[in-house]
Amino acid sequence: MATEEMQGAYTAMGAIARGERVPGGSLAGKAVRQPEPAQPGELKPTPTEIDGPYFRLGAPMRSNLLEPGDKPELVLSGRVLNEKGNPIPQAIVNIWSSDAVGNYDMLGYKYTGFVLTDDDGRYEFTTIIPGCYYPRDAKHIHVKVQGVSSPWTTQLYIEGEPGNEDDAFYTEELLVRCTTDENGTKRGTFDFVIRQVTERENVTPESLAARV
Ligand SMILES: [Fe+2]
Repeated sequence: MATEEMQGAYTAMGAIARGERVPGGSLAGKAVRQPEPAQPGELKPTPTEIDGPYFRLGAPMRSNLLEPGDKPELVLSGRVLNEKGNPIPQAIVNIWSSDAVGNYDMLGYKYTGFVLTDDDGRYEFTTIIPGCYYPRDAKHIHVKVQGVSSPWTTQLYIEGEPGNEDDAFYTEELLVRCTTDENGTKRGTFDFVIRQVTERENVTPESLAARV
């Protein structure tokens, strides 16, 4: 990241901390280190974004995050792919969000859970549409995706919800395209593109010895 971009990101983060409005998208792709850009013929890696303060270690493995009394407001599905477009089976997709009024459960595990992708790299969650909370302007779902890799941390935004373009972290690249079914449930799809450890990067006793 160029120095002036870093300064811009820090300036914008400071503005948020002071409660000032900043132009939408000013932190998108700037607040955290971004993946290496795609090489010719590769898919563009999913942009990475902040964790935020509310990640919960130990979330249960489950695809249905609904609490008693909730209606299924969002069915989120898609695939986890590598940069060549090949599906990654058994990848972890871990999501967490606030409840409908913008509160995160830091004692239990409401609205957080993880699944493993199937043989085609597919995942699916049924959840609510979270609320929005200060200082954010957009409803968002936090995600960590992990293959044979470090966790790939990002956020998703939901098509058709208010405030997306006003949010400092929003980027259209992280917008979940949605249709609405006959029950009023939004059905959104999003494919993650992540890089995994390559054969070249594999660590063996021989490769370690060769580095000495
Ligand atoms: Fe958040």
